[in-house]
Amino acid sequence: MTDTAQPLDMDSEGLRSRAVMALTNARRRTELLTSCVEDGELTAQHSPLMSPLVWDLAHIGNQEEQWLLRTVGGREALRPEIDSVYDAFEHPRATRPTLPLLAPAEARAYAAEVRGRALDVLEGSPLRGAPLVDAGFAFGMIAQHEQQHDETMLITHQLRRGPAALTAPPPPAPETARRLPDEVLVPGGPFTMGTSVEPWALDNERPAHATFVPSFFLDTTPVTCGAYLEFMADGGYADARWWASEGWATVREHGLEAPLFWRQEGGQWLRRHFGVVEPVPLEEPVLHVSWYEADAYARWAGRRLPTEAEWEKAARHDPATGRSLRYPWGDADPTPERANLGQRHLRPAPAGAYAAGESPLGIRQLIGDVWEWTSSDFLPYPGFAAFPYREYSEVFFGPGHKVLRGGSFAVDEVACRGTFRNWDLPVRRQIFAGFRTARDAGEGEL
Ligand code: AVJ
Ligand code: FE
Repeated sequence: MTDTAQPLDMDSEGLRSRAVMALTNARRRTELLTSCVEDGELTAQHSPLMSPLVWDLAHIGNQEEQWLLRTVGGREALRPEIDSVYDAFEHPRATRPTLPLLAPAEARAYAAEVRGRALDVLEGSPLRGAPLVDAGFAFGMIAQHEQQHDETMLITHQLRRGPAALTAPPPPAPETARRLPDEVLVPGGPFTMGTSVEPWALDNERPAHATFVPSFFLDTTPVTCGAYLEFMADGGYADARWWASEGWATVREHGLEAPLFWRQEGGQWLRRHFGVVEPVPLEEPVLHVSWYEADAYARWAGRRLPTEAEWEKAARHDPATGRSLRYPWGDADPTPERANLGQRHLRPAPAGAYAAGESPLGIRQLIGDVWEWTSSDFLPYPGFAAFPYREYSEVFFGPGHKVLRGGSFAVDEVACRGTFRNWDLPVRRQIFAGFRTARDAGEGEL
């Protein structure tokens, strides 16, 4: 039972080109997200839950400047006066439109200037000799940071009113040859959770540690909109039995009766998806549900959400070798055949798609499609050490945040791994989150 995958076991030229590619891919996506609407839409606030897009754009550049130019490169600050404007902790999202933000053209120029210099720093860095630069870590961290904000900006696009600004081809439909079982047994026993070897893994994914997981059953696919509609039709939103008490309070307070962006018209459920109103897609994983909604559905179905450890064991443990894999399909990087990642498509694929991405036990769509709520609070692993800054993970640890796993169609592969941990408040619904359900394995079933 070891954590032996050495994915970036490459020479420094290989690492350097991997870092250049990761940064370049992120910037291409940032440009797409900030050039597909008029400048007025970049400075507008589309929801109090989100920043103006132009804040994300300059924040991406500022974070890159602080880590790659100043910390790694030892350079002077380009614009020290803007640091506080783009400090996420100083200014809650709702207040960001009132800040003295760089205008769109200035923000673009700033981010581009930082990038040019960051590539110079990368060119001159040995990529070894200090934890921050070993295997290109800081460059990978900054590429992940930009991609995370790209996902955040895509959420802003989804919240935005008005006609569609983005389009993408639909994801592949499932091959219909073999019908999947609804659930599979994940046999009990220890597995290696987290990683100590994945070079660009962030602090909260570390270190690798043995974790015992009792036998349980897990859904082979995320819960679909069609299944979720049955919960709704059965009065799920009107029945306190299924809801955690704070969840029930938010249902009552806001009159919730369906996932975010859904509405009923003439007896049919419709949803607004990136500026297009469409019938709710019955076969697709449900999206835009809170942790409370996911938890309530699971209880209604006589089931529960998986713990974070259960989720990771299902996604990484290889029963044949006892080893933890980087991904459900093995140690190889994601491909378009294996997982729906990177905003290549603007929606999850129907449940049962991506046969090439299934786990050794036959579980599908663990990586990509929709973030999956787990029952677990966001807590440090044994041996956790904040690196390189406490504000990435440590300040969020505690019972207030629930862990999400697996990534959505909107997360890039650089920021998605079998070990990657995301977190959010249990009331959040605008994120690209769904879920799958689990149940304990009874004695007679082992
Ligand atoms: C890990 C997605 C919760 O967006 O709040 C971005 C990532 N941290 N800038 C977030 C992050 C700092 C973070 N999440
Ligand atoms: Fe950030």
